[in-house]
Amino acid sequence: MHIIKAENYKEMSELAASKIVEQVNKKSDSVLGLATGSTPEGLYKEVIQAYKDGNVSFKNVTSFNLDEYVGLNKDNDQSYYYYMHHLLFDHIDINSDQANLPNGDANDLQEECNRYEKAIQQAGGIDIQILGIGLNGHIGFNEPGTLFSMQTHIVDLDESTRQANARFFNSIEDVPLQAITMGIDSIMQSKEIILLVSGSQKAEALDKLVNGPITEDFPASILQKHSNVTIIADREARSEL
Ligand code: GLP
Repeated sequence: MHIIKAENYKEMSELAASKIVEQVNKKSDSVLGLATGSTPEGLYKEVIQAYKDGNVSFKNVTSFNLDEYVGLNKDNDQSYYYYMHHLLFDHIDINSDQANLPNGDANDLQEECNRYEKAIQQAGGIDIQILGIGLNGHIGFNEPGTLFSMQTHIVDLDESTRQANARFFNSIEDVPLQAITMGIDSIMQSKEIILLVSGSQKAEALDKLVNGPITEDFPASILQKHSNVTIIADREARSEL
């Protein structure tokens, strides 16, 4: 794993954006794997800026998001669909038919998981996957204990994850109990992974990810086995390394 030392959140976001821009300029029909949460918000701002400055076009890009809550429809402002459209897709020239998220509101959720996994493969797999990390080591919504062999699947969210994400909702009761997420196996098939980490509250998780044992109890630890992972971490996040 290669660690890029950013000074702060802004620099982390700029460095990640320049990797995306470089990738898309090298291969205009790149397949990007995208993430939500507060960590990549700065990255998306920088990407929008690069697009507005005329430095990149997403016309031929396909994207797949990692995950989506179960039971929130597209208009719900807490859905990841809403997040991605408001924070990125509506501001760049990506074809919205090619900007994919799992449908957490599907009638048959298992069928939706199968469809999503197949769609990723049919697109040729993910060239660059952006990841954040949860405090308990989750990537996407793969909670501790998830089998490394899983592909896109339905998960019961950990109570700690629901609490961590409750800050975006009116109350903890509003946080969905389940989500659809790409599995660890789906994520590991990406050709390249860029993991963003910012802030001292993530320092312990980053240390475990880099130096801890590879175990399903800490899902992000599997990244030690991937041959092309870049971690972009700011100073505070690196404080326990
Ligand atoms: C969420 C998302 C993850 C994200 C994580 C950390 O639960 N499903 O993809 O990486 O939380 O979020 P944040 O960046 O807000 O700390």
